[in-house]
Amino acid sequence: MTLGSADRPQSGHHTRSYRIRNNRVHVDPPRTVEVQATPEQVRSLEDEGYLVRERLVRGALLDRLRDAADEVEAEAQKTQGTGGGGGFGGLFVRGLIDRHPAFLDALLKFEPTLSVARAVLGPQVQIHASVLRVSYPEVGDQQVEWHFHQRVVPDPKPAFFYRPAVLDNLIYLDDITPESGPLVVMPRSHHRDEDLPSGDFADKPGQVVVTVPAGSCVTSHSSLWHRALPTLPSGTKRRLIILGYSPVWMKPVDRPSAAGCGGGLTDALKHSKDEETRELLGLSGYY
Ligand SMILES: [Fe+2]
Repeated sequence: MTLGSADRPQSGHHTRSYRIRNNRVHVDPPRTVEVQATPEQVRSLEDEGYLVRERLVRGALLDRLRDAADEVEAEAQKTQGTGGGGGFGGLFVRGLIDRHPAFLDALLKFEPTLSVARAVLGPQVQIHASVLRVSYPEVGDQQVEWHFHQRVVPDPKPAFFYRPAVLDNLIYLDDITPESGPLVVMPRSHHRDEDLPSGDFADKPGQVVVTVPAGSCVTSHSSLWHRALPTLPSGTKRRLIILGYSPVWMKPVDRPSAAGCGGGLTDALKHSKDEETRELLGLSGYY
């Protein structure tokens, strides 16, 4: 989707140039990324493990994503109701870009998040996950326990093991207040190997509660410890999109179907002539 001038993000841009270390340069030509964030914002993301950009999505695009979310939510409620409780309360709907053309159009090449992913993960990234999360004020048990993503890290850590790095973006479709279930993060925890028990909802020293207006985006390293406060009866419904990116050689959460993509709208793009589209769908970019 092309953003109108009123919808255009205001953050400063900068350029990063990459080459892939492949001595057959015709296979992997140099790449330039126009990063839609300042160098300081990217550095803060790297150091703190998260970055908040308020009102990154606005105007007509925000309205379109909200309308699409309502449609996908209504369809999912037929089989999932309002979702579950416990440590991960509320409704989860995975594979968003396969479910509604508005999400596919808006999110497949959403430069404000895609370009930052390429700044910290390298130029060859894919859509790792696209998920709608809804939490309800009238339903109890709508909180999320402390956790990090990509929980495949062995202890002790073998010499050649690298943590899988995914860059997750929480795009909020509603204003986030203390009552509607804000995100809580532990800054810099992506640098450490530490354990918290399952079912831990307790406040921790140094935690940051993130309250933001609708359209804001929180970008985070998948190893960052985080949780969500409950959506309370005094709050309002909380809708957010989780848009994750990973290196193209990593197995994505939205697993490929027999058709070669996500088992929905993206299947029609399997034979796309656009190499960037194929790479973002996890169909190329590795050997
Ligand atoms: Fe999470």
